[in-house]
Amino acid sequence: MNIFLKSLKGVAEETRLRILALCGETELSVSELTSILNQSQPRVSRHLKLLVEAGLLERFREGPWAFYRASEKDRPNGFAPALLALIPLNDPVFKEDRARLEMVRHIRVAKAEGFFKRNAAEWDSIRGLHINDASVEEALLELLPTQSGWEHLDVGTGTGRILKIIAPKARRAVGIDLSIEMLTVARSALAGPEFANCQVRHGDMQRLPLDNDTFDVVTFHLVLHYAERPELVLSEATRPLRPNGKVIVVDFAPHSEAHLMTEHAHRWLGFTDSEIQNWFTQAGLIPEDTIHLVGNPLTVSLWSATKPGNGHTPAGLLNTEGTSSWY
Ligand SMILES: C[S@@+](CC[C@H](N)C(=O)[O-])C[C@H]1O[C@@H](n2cnc3c(N)ncnc32)[C@H](O)[C@@H]1O
Repeated sequence: MNIFLKSLKGVAEETRLRILALCGETELSVSELTSILNQSQPRVSRHLKLLVEAGLLERFREGPWAFYRASEKDRPNGFAPALLALIPLNDPVFKEDRARLEMVRHIRVAKAEGFFKRNAAEWDSIRGLHINDASVEEALLELLPTQSGWEHLDVGTGTGRILKIIAPKARRAVGIDLSIEMLTVARSALAGPEFANCQVRHGDMQRLPLDNDTFDVVTFHLVLHYAERPELVLSEATRPLRPNGKVIVVDFAPHSEAHLMTEHAHRWLGFTDSEIQNWFTQAGLIPEDTIHLVGNPLTVSLWSATKPGNGHTPAGLLNTEGTSSWY
């Protein structure tokens, strides 16, 4: 009853209702909200604080910025979604807000495109060294659960490409990345309504900003070769994994393209099957069969493992500094 009243009081004001409607569409920073609402930053911040206290919004940091989104705890059948569904979309105030939100989205896309253009040539130069992405993605999709309702975590999500292909199959998909620029690209790539079940968050694969036992599938797509201590990263990945959940690592088999280390900051020139399988076992996982997609000169391997269903959660072992680079 108290929580319900608090929520009702939280939205019983025009600006707060507008903020809630906007954050129901996408995650927004204080400065983005300030420009949409055309109100002073202290005023917007005060409303945001009240909405967070009422449990309607969640605040999270991404580098120097604070972002706000409709509260996860309140979903899927909670108060905020029910209220958002009642908002008359053709009301002139909400209409104007949505038009301004579109402008904010355009600015994000322009920023993301600029970053992407500056880096695309580098990415393409690596893509050319291995089998085409479509074959890798097809093999990855084959490893996913066949039943519905599962939740997906993509570690080192980059531009969100893996979230995009997996999102239609998962109930919820979350991408984590250390690079704010990459997250900007991912956020605009995932802006469409077909990706409403996806979100990206800033975080380090060595210490995932996630609760235990919250995901059914964890993927690492061309990320593990950046880790200083891959075994510890895999151990940490088992923490947010539910019993019977699956870890899938897509990375290179051992190779001798040393320039990937000097020019693209790779920490490892691929991994052997036994290396990955031993790390899986040390992390309390049960390794499955490995798939090799032979390319020239790089072979892409897909290693997967399941977490035993006895409720045992291996302790996260992490306490190290890691890489923050990517190609
Ligand atoms: C080569 S990109 C791959 C992106 C994506 N998985 C894909 O295949 O399209 C590697 C990504 O790993 C991220 N990354 C590197 N070190 C990381 C860390 N310690 N924690 C989280 N992400 C990290 C980089 O920012 C980059 O986005």
